[in-house]
Amino acid sequence: MIDYETLFKISYGLYIVCSGDKNKGNGFISNTIFQVTAEPARFAACCNKNNHTAQFIQKTGSFSVSVLHKDTSPDIFGRFGYKSGKDFNKMEGMDIRYGETGVPIVLNEAIAFFECKLVQTFDVGTHLLFIGELIQAQLLDNTREPITYQYYRQVKKGVAPKNAPTYVDQSKLQQKADGSVFKKYKCTACGYIYDEEKEGKKFTELPSDWVCPVCGTAKEDFIEI
Ligand SMILES: Cc1cc2nc3c(=O)[nH]c(=O)nc-3n(C[C@H](O)[C@H](O)[C@H](O)COP(=O)(O)O)c2cc1C
Repeated sequence: MIDYETLFKISYGLYIVCSGDKNKGNGFISNTIFQVTAEPARFAACCNKNNHTAQFIQKTGSFSVSVLHKDTSPDIFGRFGYKSGKDFNKMEGMDIRYGETGVPIVLNEAIAFFECKLVQTFDVGTHLLFIGELIQAQLLDNTREPITYQYYRQVKKGVAPKNAPTYVDQSKLQQKADGSVFKKYKCTACGYIYDEEKEGKKFTELPSDWVCPVCGTAKEDFIEI
C-alpha cells in the first residue's frame, strides 16, 4: 500500500530555474533543487523533458536558480509554474539580471540566486536531472523567509501540475467520507481546488471578480468537481 500523503512529508523549497541568454530565455517553477556536494558545491535540478526550459539548459550548459520568499505573488507561480514558454515570452516585463555565463536570472520576488554551470545530465525517465556546479551566489534580501513547498500547499493552497516530479493525482490521495452538500471547484489553469467546506463560503457567493489565489485565473474558468 502506498499512502500518497506520506510523500508530502518530504521538505522542499520553491524556485525559479532559468536558462537561455540575452536574446531568448525561459524559466519554470521548481521544488526539486538540492545541493548534492560541498566541494565543489554542486546542485541538482530535476526538469521535465517537456518543459520548454529543458532545451535552454541543454543548449546553453548553464542555469540560474532564484529563491522565492513566502509572500511571492500568485502571478509569479501562474507565469512560471502553470504556463509554458512555448506559448509566450515569460521573461517580458520581468526584472532580469544576466549571469556570468549569460543566463537570465529572475530578480522579482527573489531573496537570493545561484548560477550554475552544467556538469552532468541524467535521464531519469520523464525528467532530466541536471547537475550544475556553483559559479555565483548572491543574497538579495535577508529579511524574508524562503517559501517551502509545504507552506505553498497548506497556506497558499497551491498544487503542483503534472510536469512536477512530485505531482500526485488527487484521486490517489485518501478521501474523507463526507456526505455533505458542500462542493469543490477546480481551477482549470493550475489545479487549485476551492473547497466550500474548508472555506466556509459557497463558490457561487464569491464576487465575479474573484480570481484563483494561486495563479490569478478568473472565477469563470473554474469547473465543479
Ligand atoms: C509548485 C510547483 C513545483 C514544480 N516543480 C517542478 C519541478 O521540480 N520540475 C519540473 O520539471 N517542473 C516543476 N513544476 C512544473 C513547471 O514549473 C511547469 O510545467 C512549467 O509550466 C514549465 O514551464 P516551461 O515549459 O516554460 O519550461 C512545478 C510547478 C509548480 C507550480
